[in-house]
Amino acid sequence: MPQQVQAVIAPGRNEPVRVETITVPDPGHGEAVVQIQACGVCHTDLHYKQGGIGDDFPFLLGHEAAGVVESVGEGATDVAPGDFVILNWRAVCGQCRSCRRGRPWYCFNTHNAKQKMTLKDGTELTPALGIGAFAEKTLVAAGQCTKVDPRVSPVVAGLLGCGVMAGIGAAINTGQVGRGDSVAVIGCGGVGDAAIAGAKLAGAAKIIAVDIDDRKLEMAKSMGATHTVNSHTASAVGEIRALTGGHGADVVIDAVGHPETYRQAFYARDLAGTVVLVGVPNPDLSLELPLLDVFDRGGSLKSAWYGDCLPSRDFPMLVDLHLQGRLDLDAFVTETIGIADVEEAFQRMHDGEVLRSVMVF
Ligand SMILES: NC(=O)c1ccc[n+]([C@@H]2O[C@H](COP(=O)([O-])OP(=O)(O)OC[C@H]3O[C@@H](n4cnc5c(N)ncnc54)[C@H](O)[C@@H]3O)[C@@H](O)[C@H]2O)c1
Ligand SMILES: [Zn+2]
Ligand SMILES: [Zn+2]
Repeated sequence: MPQQVQAVIAPGRNEPVRVETITVPDPGHGEAVVQIQACGVCHTDLHYKQGGIGDDFPFLLGHEAAGVVESVGEGATDVAPGDFVILNWRAVCGQCRSCRRGRPWYCFNTHNAKQKMTLKDGTELTPALGIGAFAEKTLVAAGQCTKVDPRVSPVVAGLLGCGVMAGIGAAINTGQVGRGDSVAVIGCGGVGDAAIAGAKLAGAAKIIAVDIDDRKLEMAKSMGATHTVNSHTASAVGEIRALTGGHGADVVIDAVGHPETYRQAFYARDLAGTVVLVGVPNPDLSLELPLLDVFDRGGSLKSAWYGDCLPSRDFPMLVDLHLQGRLDLDAFVTETIGIADVEEAFQRMHDGEVLRSVMVF
């Protein structure tokens, strides 16, 4: 029987979000219905509301979630009702040209549920990143459910489903930060701070946090930043170079996604160093760089889709590190909120007051 549940909808560009009753169909072939226990508020949800990701309103927001599988359709063999899972937004296909070449983290054909969730009047919803988890229950492809150790709290586990994974992965998977490296992270929200935590896990010797907000720089220190730069009052490039013997950092991670921060990352990196773009730019932005500088400075300019993670490999591993006390996920949770509090959480995110607000059910 299709179920009616409460969920958070973005009805139109820049319109306030609303709590509405939605219909969740029974899982079809290869699908699963998941009872959501917790879902973090990510900047990408705000991008959706603002129309920065696309125009397929109404969106069903929320995508950083953990919960318990309630039911599965036929053909869903890897998860079963009762499993505790983190939802992922890149369920790999195993068949595309990238998967076939042994690089499933780049999968070019990731999949979501085929059936649509709807408003009461039948209007089809577009779930954010194919998840839509500011909802008591959601319908996903079974491959979007990654089983992890159920001893972890859902409040922190859900964060691995997006921002924290994207940040940690930007450092360890995309940036390939190694022992002794110098790393700079521009933009210290949930994603940037996770990149800092990832750089620390990987053994970076120097971790420079850059933000325009001193409160964020304080939090970044507790995540493992060894140095901080307020780029509102000082030059990001000048300070990062000064802190690295005049050379620049081995890896610079842009967790904002503006041409300005990308240019800072580009010039704050040592020769042959790596720039990782993990912040998502708005569609109207473009970048200009002297092509000769791109050549002369060497190295690599990379983008981190979801931290180039492989959920089946990385989620259980990071949960284990957390349970062993080696990765402090609790530090990312500023507050827990209810289903009606998303607008306030967006405002607090915008005002720089939170790393993560997490909706709990
Ligand atoms: N690549 C991925 O797979 C992926 C996954 C999740 C989120 N994201 C993106 O990552 C970005 C960050 O997300 P978040 O949830 O951490 O956002 P957030 O709003 O919590 O944090 C952004 C931080 O950047 C700082 N900032 C803003 N402008 C700056 C500037 N010019 N210089 C330095 N710092 C600046 C802010 O003060 C804030 O601390 C967003 O664009 C989001 O869409 C990407
Ligand atoms: Zn694939
Ligand atoms: Zn996200």
